[in-house]
Amino acid sequence: MSLPFLPKHYNAIQAESRLLKFNQISDDEVGVLLRLLVSSKHNAKILELGTGTGMGLSWIAQGLRHDGELISVEKIPEHLEIAKKFFEDDPRIQLVNQDATLWIEENKELQFDLIFADTWAGKFTHLDSILNMVKPGGFYLIDDLNYQVDWHKNHQDKVLLLVEKLKCHPDFFSFPIDVGTGMLLLCKK
Ligand SMILES: C[S@@+](CC[C@H](N)C(=O)[O-])C[C@H]1O[C@@H](n2cnc3c(N)ncnc32)[C@H](O)[C@@H]1O
Repeated sequence: MSLPFLPKHYNAIQAESRLLKFNQISDDEVGVLLRLLVSSKHNAKILELGTGTGMGLSWIAQGLRHDGELISVEKIPEHLEIAKKFFEDDPRIQLVNQDATLWIEENKELQFDLIFADTWAGKFTHLDSILNMVKPGGFYLIDDLNYQVDWHKNHQDKVLLLVEKLKCHPDFFSFPIDVGTGMLLLCKK
């Protein structure tokens, strides 16, 4: 995929992630889609669960308008430290070092234009809570849906169940996107 307009810090985040041996950074395809969705909204309120080292964040930050806000939640301080290095000073961005399961339970009343659920919480657990946090007209995006050889035995069943549940959800329209690791995009009716 040719990539015009790479986000700021893209190369540095890749390099830092390699040093940390963190190999879970988002695909470029996910990043490009995140950037597009985020840039479609004024006053966008965005939530990312699982900041990692900040690759998804870099794409979101690039698409986010000056009046947008992003909260990104990460459990492991070493991962978040890298994201903080690049984004802590951006007034639109709040980086939270907390277990996302707790964060969701404490923030159920918040509403978002886009939720990128990039860890178990908000995807395989706390799904109903997180779907309730999507505004009407807002998006919910997940990736890592295509089979990978290192998956545990039951993981594929879990993924298939999740995808079926989301595709049939009465409150959302859905669009499976079979590129990269496989994504599913929902839009709330
Ligand atoms: C797939 S990676 C995130 C990649 C990142 N979103 C990106 O775009 O490059 C998943 C991240 O979720 C974090 N994580 C795992 N369990 C978590 C939890 N319960 N709460 C918050 N973060 C969690 C991991 O430490 C890891 O950094």
